[in-house]
Order: sequence, then C-alpha cells, then structure tokens
Amino acid sequence: MSLIAPSILNSDFLELGDTLEMINHSDADWVHLDVMDGSFVPNISFGIPIVEAAKRITKKPLDVHLMIVNPEKYIDGFRKAGADLINIHYEACKEKDLKSILREIKDSGARPALAINPDTPIKQIFDFAEYIDMVLIMSVFPGFGGQKFIAETYNRVMELKQFFIQNQLNTLIQVDGGVSLDNISKLKSVGVDVMVVGSVIFKAESPTKTISKLKSLVR
Ligand code: DX5
Ligand code: ZN
Repeated sequence: MSLIAPSILNSDFLELGDTLEMINHSDADWVHLDVMDGSFVPNISFGIPIVEAAKRITKKPLDVHLMIVNPEKYIDGFRKAGADLINIHYEACKEKDLKSILREIKDSGARPALAINPDTPIKQIFDFAEYIDMVLIMSVFPGFGGQKFIAETYNRVMELKQFFIQNQLNTLIQVDGGVSLDNISKLKSVGVDVMVVGSVIFKAESPTKTISKLKSLVR
C-alpha cells in the first residue's frame, strides 16, 4: 500500500487549522509542507513558524520539503519546529558535503530524504542512497502547485526502483507534482511508495473524500 501525503501549498492558509484537522480525520498518511525561498525556486511560500504551528495540531508525520539554498543552515530549526522528515534538494547541495548534511539530519532525529529535479539524472543520487530513508522524484519543476505531470517520471521511478532492488535497499520512493486520480495507480504499479498530492485535493468539493479515493487506488 502506498502512502498519501497531502501538500497544503494550494490550500487556504487562513484556514490552516481546519485543513490540518481535516487531514487528521482523513485517510491521509503524512502532511507535506513545501518551504520555498524565492532563490532555489522562483516562489516564496512559508518557513519555520508555519511548521511549528502545524505541529501543534497535526496528528500525522510532517514531511518538510525544503526548496531552499543552503538547507544545512536550517536543519536544527525545522527539526525543533517538528519536522519528522527533512527533504533537501540534491541540486541545492551538490557542491557541498552532502553525506555529512544527510548525517546531520539523521542525528537531529528526523528522517533524511533527498529530492531530485526532473532534469537531474537519477544515477547522480545513487552514492547517497544508504544515507537516506526516501528519494523524492519531482514530477514537475519545483516552485508551484497545479502543474502538469511529466510522463518521463515513470521511467525515472523504474530506474531508481531497479537500483534499490539490485542493492537490497528498502529506501522509499516519493513523487511530487501533478499527481491525480488518473495517474496514481500507474505510479503505484511502477514502485512509488509515497504520493504527494496538492491541488487535486484542495480544489475538490470534498477534500476528505478525494483523499479516500486516492488512497483506495493505491491499496
Ligand atoms: C511543487 C511542490 C508540490 C506541490 C504539489 O514545487 O513541491 O508539493 O504543492 O502540488 P500539485 O499536486 O498541485 O502538483
Ligand atoms: Zn513538495
């Protein structure tokens, strides 16, 4: 069974408490929080105070996706705010000692994850597989919700899955961007363990029912 991680990026922030309560009572498994700095990506979203506020009400693990430069500066801050997973971008760290940054995340008590953009070859993260609990394969270019799913993602998931099988790793595979009722079953069939879903849930008349529908397609 795959996990469903609603991304609140396109929800109404005036109602964040209600949104998180809705997620508490839904079939969702995690809450996905998109932190954007206007530098790594062309958009600015929210930061540590929102993660801290979300932690006070959520009953689900917080999956914090950092689309920021110099993520190593903020590991402690996001962990203290309540991040259960800290997801950093390979592209934000490639000139740095990525292994020690990932170790730092693990030492903080959070689960380390590595995100990879659609135009970065999958094999570039093979060296880091043993340092992480999850790889996030971006299925859109990061920055905005509501974008079209990039179909090449299926091949990228299969390539990564094959590498994990060959190396007997049970690292999770997550996909983020453009996930919908139409492609979620195929994503599960190629090996995706965690589905991030944003606008499809928050544009729906009933977000709770949409989460249940998505979950029923990956059981
Ligand atoms: C995009 C974000 C996603 C986004 C997904 O940069 O990382 O988490 O909110 O939203 P949808 O499902 O609308 O593509
Ligand atoms: Zn995300």
